[in-house]
Amino acid sequence: MLRQALARFPRLELIPSATPLEHLPRLSRHLGRDIWIKRDDLTPLALGGNKARKLEFLAADALAQGADVLVTAGAIQSNHVRQTAAIAARLGLGCLALLENPIDTADSNYLSNGNRLLLDLFGAEIEPVANLDNADQLLADACECLRAAGRKPYLVPIGGSNAFGALGYVRAGLELAEQMQRSSQEFAAVLLASGSAGTHAGLALALEHALPGTRVVGVTVSRLDATQRPKVEGLLQRTAELLKVNVPNTLSIELWDQYFAPRYGEPNAGTLEAIQLLARLEGVLLDPVYTGKAFAGLLDGIARGAFPGKGPLLFLHTGGAPALFAYHPAKTT
Ligand SMILES: Cc1ncc(COP(=O)(O)O)c(C=O)c1O
Repeated sequence: MLRQALARFPRLELIPSATPLEHLPRLSRHLGRDIWIKRDDLTPLALGGNKARKLEFLAADALAQGADVLVTAGAIQSNHVRQTAAIAARLGLGCLALLENPIDTADSNYLSNGNRLLLDLFGAEIEPVANLDNADQLLADACECLRAAGRKPYLVPIGGSNAFGALGYVRAGLELAEQMQRSSQEFAAVLLASGSAGTHAGLALALEHALPGTRVVGVTVSRLDATQRPKVEGLLQRTAELLKVNVPNTLSIELWDQYFAPRYGEPNAGTLEAIQLLARLEGVLLDPVYTGKAFAGLLDGIARGAFPGKGPLLFLHTGGAPALFAYHPAKTT
């Protein structure tokens, strides 16, 4: 039913086949618990990551509306902005990005390496802003300016997280449910980073429809539970409305706050340890802003007995490795 509902929406085929679901044997042995990883870091758009999923639907909608420029916003090291700029280039559209410096750093790597370097390669137009506290207004104003100049802007919200963007993770959730079933494993939980919320909302909706009772744990990386929860729940509701499906009343949102400090965009010791552990045992790269924190949650969750039973855990790897070059985390550990 979800699959049919999704089929009504135009989608660019950026991701022609399922991203891999892999077992991590060396890490599993090290932890005494089986760990699997869903490789959305390998989506085939500009070094990968979760935003390609959202952009399959958002960029298709932009084309359907006759847009000639994508307008979005994020941190200087935003993965979302990187992939939005890339898809704009691929489609022959312009890209205007409003960028903030959320950690107020003057570090030259943060300001010009990693994702930021790639924005210049994709030819995005950059507008630095003091902050994105009032992002909706700033984005609407930028679109208005472009319209006044005769352009046809399409607004891509921060993180690609509106109901259209979340469709990408409904689709990913159905893909994952199939892979989980085929693996014949009884997964104890699926873990992911919960930021602008489209990934979490879309995935939770799809999994509860396709594999009811699957435990989904969102590790907060942008704001704490009290403000993140209404964001996830609101987007879940709007996504279900867009699809004209129900939100199962068994669906509950689980958020973990303990791995977030000190703030968005700033890794902590646990983040860096998690990045190093996965790199050294499996040769897989996490990132310092999102997946490093979420993976630290997985590791600590095992240590504190937060996953009863022996079932394997599944980590949704949402990408972000280009930011490693902006944070150079290997140096600080
Ligand atoms: C690498 C990475 N992982 C996870 C997320 C969080 O996804 P969402 O914003 O959909 O909550 C982001 C968002 O930018 C990201 O770049």
